[in-house]
Amino acid sequence: MLDKNRMPRHVAIIMDGNGRWAKKKNLPRVAGHNAGMKTMKKIVDHSDKLGIKYLTVYAFSTENWKRSAAEVTGIFKLLVTYVNSELKELIDNNVKVTVLGDYSQIPQDAKKSLEKTLRETRDNTGLQFNIALNYGGRDEIRRAVRAIGEKVRDGSLLPEEITEDVIGEHLFTGRLHADAPDPELVIRTSGELRLSNFLLWQSAYSELVFSNVLWPDFSPEEYEKAIEEYQSRDRRFGGR
Ligand code: FPP
Repeated sequence: MLDKNRMPRHVAIIMDGNGRWAKKKNLPRVAGHNAGMKTMKKIVDHSDKLGIKYLTVYAFSTENWKRSAAEVTGIFKLLVTYVNSELKELIDNNVKVTVLGDYSQIPQDAKKSLEKTLRETRDNTGLQFNIALNYGGRDEIRRAVRAIGEKVRDGSLLPEEITEDVIGEHLFTGRLHADAPDPELVIRTSGELRLSNFLLWQSAYSELVFSNVLWPDFSPEEYEKAIEEYQSRDRRFGGR
């Protein structure tokens, strides 16, 4: 049984297995992403119902540009479909959408729809839904190091003032950007046992839960099972 008093505040999900789901059904890969988008909607809703405060999903990595043009275009089309069809519901449900990653280079229409969504949900105070788009953990750390380096160069920060908190606040999840705490729970679907460059800094103490279910088949029930597994673990943060 889920313990409503011990819910993670922040859950992050690597939505993996769309391609394999499509292949099993003899469908094009984009059909797998389309089914994955529907699952994502359900998981956003369910996170809200469970009282989770932050949900982060890995929608597009810095490495995903290597996929075929048709697949890349298809994923961004789905992003437009998602934000356009869901904006009203997101607003009604008080969901705040943010992006982790540099989305300046994504297709224009996707960028426009996304910016509208960010703008219109900016002041919402319910679930914060972070979409990792053109996101890579190493790239994120590189950008933070660079921004900090610039502050040192212009004299607004001393090298000895570079603490873990200072690094954290320059990440996409930091106070200067999406402002989300570290995830207590990271879920990856489809049976792969890797982090694949997702939230490298932020997941230092996260519980990792792996589900064998392919993302399009991931259900609210599977989601609750993953949270139950998290709740069954004994978190010590390196102490005793
Ligand atoms: C991983 O499965 C999934 C992705 C790289 C894309 C995730 C996209 C969505 C869930 C839908 C679109 C929603 C937005 C907001 C853009 P995979 O393709 O790596 O699966 P495979 O490992 O089985 O090939």
